[in-house]
Amino acid sequence: MSDKTPITRLTIRRPDDWHLHLRDGEMLESVLPYSAAHFARAIIMPNLVPPVVTAEQAAGYRDRIMAALPDGMRFTPLMTLYMTEDTDPADVARAHAEGIATAVKLYPAGATTNSASGVRDFDKVRAVLEKMAEIGMPLCVHGEVTDHAIDIFDREATFIDRVLKPIRKKVPDLRVIMEHVTTQDAVDFVRDNPKNLAATITTHHLIINRNSILAGGIRPHYYCLPVAKRERHRIALVQAAVSGDPRFFLGTDSAPHTDPAKLQSCGCAGCFTAPNTLSCLAEVFEAAGKLKALESFTSLNGPAYYRLPPNEETITLVKGDPVAYPERIDTGAGPVTVFDPGFPLHWHVEA
Ligand code: DOR
Ligand code: ZN
Repeated sequence: MSDKTPITRLTIRRPDDWHLHLRDGEMLESVLPYSAAHFARAIIMPNLVPPVVTAEQAAGYRDRIMAALPDGMRFTPLMTLYMTEDTDPADVARAHAEGIATAVKLYPAGATTNSASGVRDFDKVRAVLEKMAEIGMPLCVHGEVTDHAIDIFDREATFIDRVLKPIRKKVPDLRVIMEHVTTQDAVDFVRDNPKNLAATITTHHLIINRNSILAGGIRPHYYCLPVAKRERHRIALVQAAVSGDPRFFLGTDSAPHTDPAKLQSCGCAGCFTAPNTLSCLAEVFEAAGKLKALESFTSLNGPAYYRLPPNEETITLVKGDPVAYPERIDTGAGPVTVFDPGFPLHWHVEA
């Protein structure tokens, strides 16, 4: 096939989602099938109420996820532990050794949804970070400072200077994943630091910029954290995602909140992208002329960084009539609006 022949069918290894919020209870039951339909594995965020802090809590949460998985579906949740200033290095090491937890999640206290128990003083978690470096357990980082004096659009770039650089200097062998990066600054930082550093990029940050949230009316369904930035940053994210550079991979950060929780005077942060993520991504990669790089981003780079084998199964994306996906889904917890990319989606995941 010549390079000019348009691709209308693409078979790739089954993708994984390296950053996913499944919640718990009725919400978990309603949203899990959308991820399990397309993804083999996912890194599961621990920001429940109360958070998933210990190995025992992570094992319990994993059991609840597996119990919520519909018959006939296969899905492997890769659990994370929510780091607090009291996290015990021995418990973390046990969770890793016993295969209960794949990574630890670092939320600066107050940075986002349910992050109140996160870390204020990074020196207090030094022993945990050193233990993780020793055993090769990755740290997933929500990279935003919480200092109210810092403009919300600058919080990621400031985090790199104030927090991430010092941590990497003190614990250079720690394997870090900067999650849901939203800026050229973060892309450059990852590119310039080849050792022990990678980044996930969400579907929605490849599509929306801050105008999507604020121009011509406020659109709460596009509000997430880190908040989408200027168009030049979105372009930098797309370039990183389609580049094939193994340090960039998909973490959807699909984060369901009910419509009443989003549509209020102080609405929650999060975009629910699980139902149409792969169709959205295929459009983004096609528009960039890089469809063939989709597999690296969704299915190869993540496992390589996490030192796991890529999935053996494949999925096939087929281009056709616009994909019909629900505007919102009804969950036991209430209606949840599905991410609207703002353009029609033509790539179907073949059943
Ligand atoms: O938009 C977001 N939603 N960003 C986060 O960091 C947390 C997430 C959530 O849990 O809702
Ligand atoms: Zn998240």
